[in-house]
Amino acid sequence: MPAGASGRHTLCGVSIDTSPRNAPLPLLVLGQGRDLHSERGVECPGDLPAPSDPDLVARARAAKEALGDRVFVLGHHYQRDEVIEFADVTGDSFKLAQQAAARPQAPWIVFCGVHFMAESADILTHDDQTVVLPDLAAGCSMADMATSAQVDDCWDDLVEAGVDGLTIPVSYMNSSAAIKAFTGRHGGTICTSSNAATALEWAFGRTGGVGGSGKVLFLPDQHLGRNTAVRELGLSLDDCVVYDPHRPGGGLTPEQLRAARMILWRGHCSVHGRFTVDAVQTARREIPGVKVIVHPECRYEVCELADEIGSTEQIIAKVGAAPAGTSWVVGTELNLVKRLASKFPEQSIAFLEKNVCYCSTMNRIDLPHLVWTLESLVEGQVVNPIRVDPEVAHWAKVALDQMLALPGRTHKV
Ligand code: 13P
Ligand code: SF4
Repeated sequence: MPAGASGRHTLCGVSIDTSPRNAPLPLLVLGQGRDLHSERGVECPGDLPAPSDPDLVARARAAKEALGDRVFVLGHHYQRDEVIEFADVTGDSFKLAQQAAARPQAPWIVFCGVHFMAESADILTHDDQTVVLPDLAAGCSMADMATSAQVDDCWDDLVEAGVDGLTIPVSYMNSSAAIKAFTGRHGGTICTSSNAATALEWAFGRTGGVGGSGKVLFLPDQHLGRNTAVRELGLSLDDCVVYDPHRPGGGLTPEQLRAARMILWRGHCSVHGRFTVDAVQTARREIPGVKVIVHPECRYEVCELADEIGSTEQIIAKVGAAPAGTSWVVGTELNLVKRLASKFPEQSIAFLEKNVCYCSTMNRIDLPHLVWTLESLVEGQVVNPIRVDPEVAHWAKVALDQMLALPGRTHKV
């Protein structure tokens, strides 16, 4: 075989197996290769148990029992049932980060969620605790839509337009630690889907109030930013502009930046972005008296037609408090909707989309990965630790602490 016809090669910084069986691919396919520019990989660095192993549940139980209080397992609401079964606590990203911080005696925090959540947990936990993500491929496509370099370029555009002094960044929890650090460095705050309105009020309050001339740069979910600013703070759609990081100057003129009150980053959730106006109208036609409840990561037009809007925790609370016989269609991730339907059988709960709509990265965490993680810990081996660079962690914590100091926050430890 000629030299270079097999082995590993680098393409655009990505290490790829180019043996004949694995010809180079333009895209990084799950299960092959590893992105060297990112902590997130697609190769599991160990031997996973087979998904067909009939002893997986027993193995997970035995490993967890052997670890006792030394391990604390957190499960986001969008995780699979097979994983949730082993979670010590379930919640949304904010509640889970707080819960991780509230267990200083556990040396290992196994985070069954996605990468940005594990990063936040690492930032909020003690230095002698290690946060583990069972599969490093569990990223978030929305968080990946705002990179540090892009956001720095955006800030340069604001400086050029002469509006940086009037602008406070507000970043959604669903962002990388680097974006959270940018937010902390520029005097902003983090928010979650349950406290976004309070965070925006705080940010506008720093520059003359909602009726003043200040601006918010909202990262990275344009929908949560728009829904909150227009539906809850009373700004108009014309007050909002969308900054596209793939176009020079964000695709905006300096005049547009100067006139805007909300500068929305062009990012979205690939799951919640799929719910449509048509699906809401069909549900209303086909299910008499149905109540439509959606997550604020859904598009503005969809939220406008819904009866209720709420974060993951709020959706669970609202459905749980409804009287028996209530009919719902729910616009959020399918694992959670299925769990709601089995938890509240006295209600009729349907999914707001004909096509399957799981979060593919949340679903990366499965029982084989959890068993591998727990059994490795039993053997004293910490796999897939998430460690945020100390300088980044410092500034990200400034922004996270600002969020924790906001008045009337929804979640309390
Ligand atoms: P919350 O869990 O904060 O509602 O966020 C939803 C989500 O998309 C998590 O990835
Ligand atoms: Fe990211 Fe959306 Fe998946 Fe949440 S549901 S992890 S925001 S892609």
